[in-house]
Amino acid sequence: MQIDVVSIFPEYFEPLKLSLIGKATQDGLLQVAIHDLRSHTYDKHHTVDDTPYGGGPGMVMKPEPWGEVLDELVQPDSILVIPTPSGKVFDQKVAQQLSGAGHVVFACGRYEGIDSRVAEHYATRVKVMEVSIGDYVLAGGEVAVLAMIEAMVRLVPGVLGNEQSFQDDSFAEGAMENLVEGPVYTRPPSWRDLVVPEILTSGDHAKIAAWRLAQAQQRTAQNRPDLGK
Ligand code: 6GU
Repeated sequence: MQIDVVSIFPEYFEPLKLSLIGKATQDGLLQVAIHDLRSHTYDKHHTVDDTPYGGGPGMVMKPEPWGEVLDELVQPDSILVIPTPSGKVFDQKVAQQLSGAGHVVFACGRYEGIDSRVAEHYATRVKVMEVSIGDYVLAGGEVAVLAMIEAMVRLVPGVLGNEQSFQDDSFAEGAMENLVEGPVYTRPPSWRDLVVPEILTSGDHAKIAAWRLAQAQQRTAQNRPDLGK
């Protein structure tokens, strides 16, 4: 899959060279390119923002630099993702959907956001998704995009060593759909007087699976009553 990211802070995306995503890139499963929005400005100060029509606080990103860079990047089968706290919530289902796309372009806004005509215009040409990562406000889309890319890329076939490992994830399609995972343990069997639940060392895989499901249900009821079930 190919990912293009446009931002006024390209340095935010250095961590994409690390760990799982860096490895996926090296393995040829992923191509990531970062683009500086300011390269598409032509005034002395490389201006990307202006005051909002109608008044009010803050600044709005001007449409012209966005139009120029997105015209270069967007192809008919691209998905354009615009991170914004007013978007639809990015959840595991959206991560799954995007992980199957051939090409995703992320347009990172700062300030009060990007002039709305940018989303409106590209929606006539490609699939546009305005997405939020949760009910809080970040200073810009960059951190949200890092989170989204990590969630997507680990679902691309071949990226995780063990294909089983995402089927058991919290929120994963199937048995875990509306559940968060329960507790996990490793050696040693006893640590600071706390012992690993005996069932996990029993070797009875059916019993272990049933216990894990019960733990997931309990933790979901405790921490995420909003998930229902
Ligand atoms: Cl995607 N962007 C910003 N600026 N704030 C957010 C967000 C996105 N998601 C939650 N808060």
